[in-house]
Amino acid sequence: MIYIYCLSYLVLIIHSGNEALIDRIILEELSNPKIPRRRFLDLFLSGTGFAVLGSLLYPLLRYITPMEQEEAAVSSVSLGAADEFPVNSGRVFRFGSQPGIIIRGRDGKFRAFYATCTHLSCIVQYDDREGVIWCACHNGRYDLNGINISGPPPRPLPPLKVNINPDSGQIMVSRPEASA
Ligand code: FES
Repeated sequence: MIYIYCLSYLVLIIHSGNEALIDRIILEELSNPKIPRRRFLDLFLSGTGFAVLGSLLYPLLRYITPMEQEEAAVSSVSLGAADEFPVNSGRVFRFGSQPGIIIRGRDGKFRAFYATCTHLSCIVQYDDREGVIWCACHNGRYDLNGINISGPPPRPLPPLKVNINPDSGQIMVSRPEASA
């Protein structure tokens, strides 16, 4: 019986996150004078153990079942002030559930792409020595238009659109179709 209580406790925490309510239910059970002291102790210790287990499992479950719907709906992200990006630099950022990369080339222009390599899906980075987008996994290279120029990548990187607000100087990156 004790395990049913504890399992219920764990499941309710994971699904509702309302620990206060669950604690109240357990306390009501404990205040029942028919419950012997040994059982009280068992319940308390097991409940604590399961609560700890639940607090460890909850983030894991949220990670395993990400909010795909929410993330899939992302059509643009703000990346802050344009002048915070040095010339000849790149930064990987999160675009919904996917990585993106924004590059400020040696010419000062901004470009952005999905950062998943078209070979075997490693995340690409900017190589400021060569001025190319580079995939460290198998030495794949893309130029600053996202075109695959050497190594195993079979296709270009899909582009993202970069807009800089002329008043605020803030960079907004969006899907090309979202800003058309
Ligand atoms: S995963 Fe990028 S080159 Fe292989």
